[in-house]
Amino acid sequence: MTAPKRTWPLLSGRSRLVLLAPLFVIAILAWWIASKTLQNYQMAINPDVQLAEGSMGQDYSRNPHVNDDTQPGPQVGITLQTVADTVLWTSPRKGEIPLYRIPVLTYTPEGNLVAMVEGRRKPEGDTHPKIFSVRRSTDRGDTSCEMWSPAQRILYDKGISSYLGTVFVDDTTRTVFLMYAYCEFCPLISMMLMNSTDDGITWGRPRNITDMVGKDYAAYPGPGYGIQKKHEPAKGRLVVCGHGFHHGKGLVLLLSDDHGMTWRRGAFVPSIPFTNGTDGDFDPDECQLVELPDGSLYVVARNEKVYKQHCKIVMRSFDGGETLPQEHTYLDGALIEPRITSGLWYHDGTLFYSGPKHDTKRRNLYIRWSYDHGKTWSSEKQIWADWAGYSTLMMLPGDKSHLYIMYERGKTGPVDEIALTKIKISMEQGREDT
Ligand SMILES: *[C@@H]1O[C@H](CO)[C@@H](O)[C@H](O)[C@H]1NC(C)=O
Ligand SMILES: *[C@@H]1O[C@H](CO)[C@@H](O)[C@H](O)[C@H]1NC(C)=O
Ligand SMILES: *[C@@H]1O[C@H](CO)[C@@H](O)[C@H](O)[C@H]1NC(C)=O
Repeated sequence: MTAPKRTWPLLSGRSRLVLLAPLFVIAILAWWIASKTLQNYQMAINPDVQLAEGSMGQDYSRNPHVNDDTQPGPQVGITLQTVADTVLWTSPRKGEIPLYRIPVLTYTPEGNLVAMVEGRRKPEGDTHPKIFSVRRSTDRGDTSCEMWSPAQRILYDKGISSYLGTVFVDDTTRTVFLMYAYCEFCPLISMMLMNSTDDGITWGRPRNITDMVGKDYAAYPGPGYGIQKKHEPAKGRLVVCGHGFHHGKGLVLLLSDDHGMTWRRGAFVPSIPFTNGTDGDFDPDECQLVELPDGSLYVVARNEKVYKQHCKIVMRSFDGGETLPQEHTYLDGALIEPRITSGLWYHDGTLFYSGPKHDTKRRNLYIRWSYDHGKTWSSEKQIWADWAGYSTLMMLPGDKSHLYIMYERGKTGPVDEIALTKIKISMEQGREDT
């Protein structure tokens, strides 16, 4: 038997209104509560934060600098060509240090290169005890691996994990610093600072600077390098970008105006859990900064929860790192990423960026460059087509024609080895006279 066909009487206009009106009121109420919760969250993690009017609806997908009239330097078309390639660390997958990760690279006051990595005492996960291993090149990275100094341990964790870290040079005092986090998965992480006054050959005992930074802002520095400001405002200031402070979320700039003796927090940007800790949250994470010739800072951050799209979050500071204004924060859709640390370097009108050109996988590493401070990315060069992970960029002072990229790469996965590739920068053919 077939059931009698039931037809719902069509609601008359009037009863439809009676039924739908409460639903409409409920929807408005839900939206209002959600927006308040978000604001309260921001206030809770940062009582001084004043949410700009309408900030919730801000379109971070638009680069606010695309139409500004700051004139970049002359358009110097360049090309990149690999001239040397060295494997500095290979992960043996067994033994005392099965895995090397996290490339960190700096120039030194004498014009040498210092490369650092985390040696992990367990092959999987970030949480296990580590060593920090350092190698140094005094011939501009030209020669084979054997010409680099043997790997030297500057830190050995006992049971608790450290996090590498940010390296930076005070060119005035000719001191190389390494800032890192100790006890990275403890409720309170310790911010540690060690230094070398002999060009990166020996390293002194670390100092605990957690209380200066404030324990609510004790962060994971980098990974990558910090800077000493070369232009006003705040010329001479040391600036380090950290992330993961305060309940594990957000981005913070750490500042020193006395050559690294004392530290305080500058700008910070809390993460915002729009969707309860899953994809879609605004969560700026691992970060690298550079100073542009106008004295502003350009910060590129890992988009940890893939807020809106798989691409970098960019921030700018125009006051020496005190603030990172919301209206200058944007998603750069051109810089797609699989949630990862990236390299950044600014030299003579060109902003270089390195990272895997893939939205979900750590592979296909490119260097890309911009002649207009990151408004547009004009050119690119593929560095490694296979698996490739974290990367960092560096140039030596006094050498205008070579760029170094240190990065994780492999054939079986992105962390088989840590390599350093030296790249020659040439003027593009036929562009010299333009
Ligand atoms: C660093 O200082 C903080 C705050 O005083 C303290 O809680 C922490 O235990 C110290 N860490 C180390 C490794 O000494
Ligand atoms: C450099 O390290 C030494 C310990 O080796 C320490 O006494 C000194 O204060 C440190 N300098 C800075 C600026 O952190
Ligand atoms: C948020 O996530 C947690 C853990 O995943 C879950 O227990 C909680 O119910 C979620 N809350 C909301 C409002 O979805």
